[in-house]
Amino acid sequence: MPVAEPDRVIHADNLDVLPTLADGSFTLVYLDPPFNTGRAQSRQSTRHVRQGVTDAAAPAPSGTITGFAGKRYERIRGDLMRYDDRFDDYWGFLEPRLVEAWRLLADDGTLYLHLDYREAHYAKVLLDALFGRECFLNELIWAYDYGGKSKRRWPTKHDTILVYVKDPERYFFDSAAVDREPYMAPGLVTPEKAAAGKLPTDVWWHTIVSPTGREKTGYPTQKPEGVLRRIVQASSRPGDWVLDAFAGSGTTGAVARSLDRRFVLIDEHADAIDVMRRRFAEAGGIRFERPTPTDAAAGA
Ligand SMILES: C[S@@+](CC[C@H](N)C(=O)[O-])C[C@H]1O[C@@H](n2cnc3c(N)ncnc32)[C@H](O)[C@@H]1O
Repeated sequence: MPVAEPDRVIHADNLDVLPTLADGSFTLVYLDPPFNTGRAQSRQSTRHVRQGVTDAAAPAPSGTITGFAGKRYERIRGDLMRYDDRFDDYWGFLEPRLVEAWRLLADDGTLYLHLDYREAHYAKVLLDALFGRECFLNELIWAYDYGGKSKRRWPTKHDTILVYVKDPERYFFDSAAVDREPYMAPGLVTPEKAAAGKLPTDVWWHTIVSPTGREKTGYPTQKPEGVLRRIVQASSRPGDWVLDAFAGSGTTGAVARSLDRRFVLIDEHADAIDVMRRRFAEAGGIRFERPTPTDAAAGA
């Protein structure tokens, strides 16, 4: 395994760190990016896309890039960006990180991209072109019911998680390892089935992190461990490496640790790193790193 031995929490821009990690290192990559990013980040990113593409996605002579599945990604990208130039900034930020995520996935690996309902549909079209439509596994809907509700439209109370595999013939998925949930109508199934519970579908009802609960770290965008638990259980094995490049409060790491997976967490904000230091205060075997840009360029 090319990633250094201890689990890692890295304080840096993920785009500086991802290129330093070895190809195929992770069985599971979970990305929960901020929903809106600034223009400055997108300008910086374009350069990395061109450098980060693999052979399959090598720039065509015109300077366009081809999706990993060999489709004309750039044409679809251009059409979508013209349609919604606001999304251009967002995708300009995400794209090079997704190119890196694809490279970092093991052949049996899976990407979970956690998105806002406003961005998810554009991202789906682009990911189909980038990864290949046959690599699309699921659109997960995480539904919750908390906070204010509009009376002018249906209150929006869900996030979308797009799931793509690196290789549709080889990906790892263990439904038997996933915690089961109660049947909605237990009277319609046998008592044995009702007692065992059912495999969750692609719609996950799950409360947000309770403002007073045990899990609460105080980090504003913290995701519930229950949501990450399903992802980690289904799409990795004990001992596998899990990457979260937008780690925030470190939920992915906490869950990975509790399920005996290894992890690399990256976040650029000092607040997130502070929260993770507190969250993992009792846990051994975690290295906190703050690479300088020179370290990152040298692959430290
Ligand atoms: C939506 S939050 C992630 C929350 C996390 N899933 C949790 O459960 O706490 C997004 C995180 O991405 C981080 N972030 C944004 N841009 C980044 C970048 N370029 N490199 C590393 N981290 C970044 C932010 O600091 C923020 O903590």
